[in-house]
Amino acid sequence: MSNPTATSLRTYARDRIMGWRPTIRHAAPQPGEALPPGPRTLGALQSMRVWGARNTYFPAMQQRYGDTFLLRVTPIGQIVVVCGLEDVRKVALGGPDLFPIGENNSMFEALIGKRTVLSLDGAEHRAERKRIMPAFHGERIAAVVTAMEELTAQEVMRWPIGSDFSLVERMQELALRVIVRVVLGVEDRARAEALAPALRRMVDYSNLELLMLVWPQLARLGPWRKAIAGLDHADDLLCAEIDRRRADPDRHQRADVLSMLLDGDPDDELVRVELVTLLAGGQETSAMAASWMFERLLRHPGALARVRAGLDDPKDEYRTAVINETLRVRPVVYNVGRRATAPVELGGYRVPAGTFVWASLAAIHRDPRIWGEDVEEFRPERWLEPDVPSRAFLPWGGGAHRCLGATFAHIEMEVILRTVLRHVELRADQAADEPMVMRNIFALPKHGARVRVERRLGG
Ligand code: HEM
Repeated sequence: MSNPTATSLRTYARDRIMGWRPTIRHAAPQPGEALPPGPRTLGALQSMRVWGARNTYFPAMQQRYGDTFLLRVTPIGQIVVVCGLEDVRKVALGGPDLFPIGENNSMFEALIGKRTVLSLDGAEHRAERKRIMPAFHGERIAAVVTAMEELTAQEVMRWPIGSDFSLVERMQELALRVIVRVVLGVEDRARAEALAPALRRMVDYSNLELLMLVWPQLARLGPWRKAIAGLDHADDLLCAEIDRRRADPDRHQRADVLSMLLDGDPDDELVRVELVTLLAGGQETSAMAASWMFERLLRHPGALARVRAGLDDPKDEYRTAVINETLRVRPVVYNVGRRATAPVELGGYRVPAGTFVWASLAAIHRDPRIWGEDVEEFRPERWLEPDVPSRAFLPWGGGAHRCLGATFAHIEMEVILRTVLRHVELRADQAADEPMVMRNIFALPKHGARVRVERRLGG
């Protein structure tokens, strides 16, 4: 490392994970306070369902106990889940005074490192966001659209004609390449090829691997040791990119995010954490959202034809409607989590200070009391009608922690939509909808959004 302070600040995955201790606390109700009801099954069973299938578990519990219920989840402990509109907004948009994020998200410190916006609160969080935000302003992102288009076109050219493949896998690859080019600013092919699989390691955890957060001792054993070595290898490559860019005399003229993060000469560890945070926040989410967009569109020929008809109109509102409707019916971030600092009213219960609260974004997106009886239907037209209930649409979260990459991700989805439709005609491999399944915290199509290229178009 070029910067001696930075070398000493560098943290290693093994130390982070072995040194991390989850906060398992049970908030005991005081007089006048109460926790909502919830299932009495073993905590281990509840945990399995939360980490493996919350998309079916939460709705089932909501049906049984109402909009507010209590679960026991390893390694956090008791969690109050809220599904009602006002409570979801209260928690997701609530500021750090009542609903800080830190303790709920402390596992990100083990995986990523300290000082990630994903687990900071208050003034520290604001300062860190202020450092990253300028790189994500609309005009900056607009400047990278051409790179996104090129990468998408190159990706589409690799798709075989006439045989099925998983769009999820292709979108994961594409989202990673976009990050390598646009966030890290790596144009060199060989370096990009080495970075992509290494970085993938940082965002692709199986539930089995995540067990090392529950039992850090696992870090010494086979698959977990391998996972940790992979994290450190990816960190090495990132640190090498940071070094390289710091030494680049032209970096002030560059448009990539890394070059901007180096303004003010911060230490390398801070920049490394910021890069991994952007990767963790932006890769899997974008890939899943883009996959769902095609999974939905290919099963709705009317919507597909309408979006195709507007491809030459740069401001076609229907494209935005398709993106919004995808994020509404298939929100990739199923819920957000916080921990209350004071007693608070949720669903008619005054829950004690210290309660972990998860707000289900998916519940409000798919609430027939808000969206009407056709709530489950993919109907982009609803976004062009007056009185769309946008208060109940929070795919990017809200408040202090609202998605930093929302504009970036929206533009990326739009570029992918336009570019793919211009180059190929796709068909879903089966008529039935792909069910939603969870892979750690993200919701993805069960079969990987399998599609086939029917034919190539002029482009
Ligand atoms: C469709 C794609 C995406 C979706 C649905 C999404 C969703 C979200 C949500 C719901 C949050 C709020 C979490 C909370 O309140 O606890 C969030 C935060 C965040 N997102 Fe995204 N995101 C997407 C893409 C991206 C991209 C492309 C990036 C960056 C390149 C990114 C970076 C972040 C960061 C850094 C945060 C944390 C902000 C903070 O805590 O201050 N996201 N995202």
